[in-house]
This record gives sequence, structure tokens and C-alpha cells, in this order.
Amino acid sequence: MFNLFRKKKEDIYEILLPGEKSQKERPFNTPKQEKDRIFEDVVGYDDIKRVFRMALKSDEPIHVLLVGPPASAKTIFLDALIRKLGDKQAYFAIGSSSTKAGVVNMLFMREPKYLMVDEIDKLPMRDQASLLGLMETGELVETKVSKTRCIKLKTWVFATANTTAILSKPLLTRFLVFNLKPYTYEDFEEVTVHVLGRRYNIKPDLAIVIASAVWHKMGTPNIRQCLKIAKMTKKKEDVEWLIETMKKYKDSGEDWNK
Ligand SMILES: Nc1ncnc2c1ncn2[C@@H]1O[C@H](COP(=O)(O)OP(=O)(O)OP(=O)(O)O)[C@@H](O)[C@H]1O
Ligand SMILES: [Mg+2]
Repeated sequence: MFNLFRKKKEDIYEILLPGEKSQKERPFNTPKQEKDRIFEDVVGYDDIKRVFRMALKSDEPIHVLLVGPPASAKTIFLDALIRKLGDKQAYFAIGSSSTKAGVVNMLFMREPKYLMVDEIDKLPMRDQASLLGLMETGELVETKVSKTRCIKLKTWVFATANTTAILSKPLLTRFLVFNLKPYTYEDFEEVTVHVLGRRYNIKPDLAIVIASAVWHKMGTPNIRQCLKIAKMTKKKEDVEWLIETMKKYKDSGEDWNK
């Protein structure tokens, strides 16, 4: 899946068009470098990165929904976008912790150009319904008791979900939906090596030991497990011991309150 990172060193070379400068010669922070920086924390998914760049360049709002299993980089995509777009024009909402006042109230107050909704599948139904008009025509309407308020916004919506099953069909059809597939072991190892190296300065060989142990020995491999283990271990033996101990005391799902 992530071909970019599998290239052998000797395979990496630049192809320059006539008149184009080598990456090494290009002055710092030129557009070519900048565009790659938006998603520098996200390993792989070059095609999805391109989709977001295209959506950002569009004159009209485009709504993108990433659906996928836990720890498949959905939230870090939104994090990268909010960092790039800034609080002034973008607003980040989490579906599961939407305030009582709700996302809609915030839209009336801040009128953001970009709305990020992490875990939109957990957004209350009333908010999902309000987003329909916003995404289709840019019209945001709210009716409370006897009062109705309405504004016109030009807002791009970027969202994530673990499932589309509980999203309303009309809402779903307003999005470009991208279904992220679960990682293969190769992807899992590659992401782990990059993330552990960058965050905790862990060498690739130890990161591979961690990735392999988590993938092969734990029931539901998840990169978050690799991160937790990496924080506590400095050598291979520690990784193996910790994984065995975690397996020994694994939660059986028993409810001891009964
Ligand atoms: N492709 C990737 N590039 C960089 N980091 C990744 C990648 N995939 C997973 N991770 C790491 O895994 C962890 C979880 O990522 P993230 O929070 O984006 O997952 P998610 O898809 O939103 O999961 P959930 O559905 O549980 O919310 C983060 O620490 C992130 O850095
Ligand atoms: Mg998430």
C-alpha cells in the first residue's frame, strides 16, 4: 500500500522537468516543499493526501469522509488539516463529545470555512440533520421552540467515522467517502518504524521487534499498543517480557460486579 517507503535507497532519484530545480537547490519553504509538509505526520496514503489537497484548492466546498478501523490515521489527518488551516477559519468538533449547545450553535457563532468532525458517526442526530442543508446548499437553519435562525455559509466538511452504518443516508451521499482498509503486516511495520522513530527516537530494529510482537502475539494489533510499549522499553528482551505479561493478564471481559 505505501510504496513510497519501500523504495530501496538506490531507487530514489529525482526526475526533473526542463528548467525545474533539484529539491536540494530549491529555496526553503517553496510551495513544493510546503505542500508535503501538511501531512508530514501521516505515513503513506499519498492518494488520500492528494484528495485533501484537491479539496482545499477547489473553489466550491467539497466534503470528505474517511471511514476505517481504529488507529488507521483518520484523526491525524484532521489534526494535520487543522494545523495547516488554523483556528480562525477552521473548527474541530468531536462527534462523541459534542457540547449541549452543539456544533450548529458553534457554526452560527464562528462561521468557519472548514469544519472538521472527528467521529461523525457519534454526532447527535439533530446535528447530523443540520449539516445536510449546510453541505448541500450552504444554508444552515436551526429551529428552537418558536424561533428559527438561518445563515448562508461556504463551508468544507472533513470528517471521520469508524462506520457508515449509523450515519443517515442523505448525509453520507453529500460526502466523498474513502474507506481505509486495515493495515497489512508490512504497512503496520512501516508505520510503526516511522512513528516510533519520530516520536521516541527508537531505532528501526527495536521498532520492528515491537511491531512484530504486537502483530503476532496480541489479539487485535493496533499501533497504539506499539506506542505504549515503546514508551516503556529500551531493548528486545523488555518488549518480549512485557508482551508475555500483558497476555498473561489480558482482560477476559468478565464482569466482576456480578
Ligand atoms: N499512517 C499513519 N501514519 C502515522 N501515524 C499513524 C498512522 N496510522 C496510525 N498511526 C498512529 O496511530 C495512532 C492512532 O492514529 P489515529 O488517532 O489517527 O487513529 P484513528 O484512525 O483516528 O483511530 P480511531 O478510529 O480509534 O479514532 C496515532 O498515534 C498515529 O500516530
Ligand atoms: Mg480517531
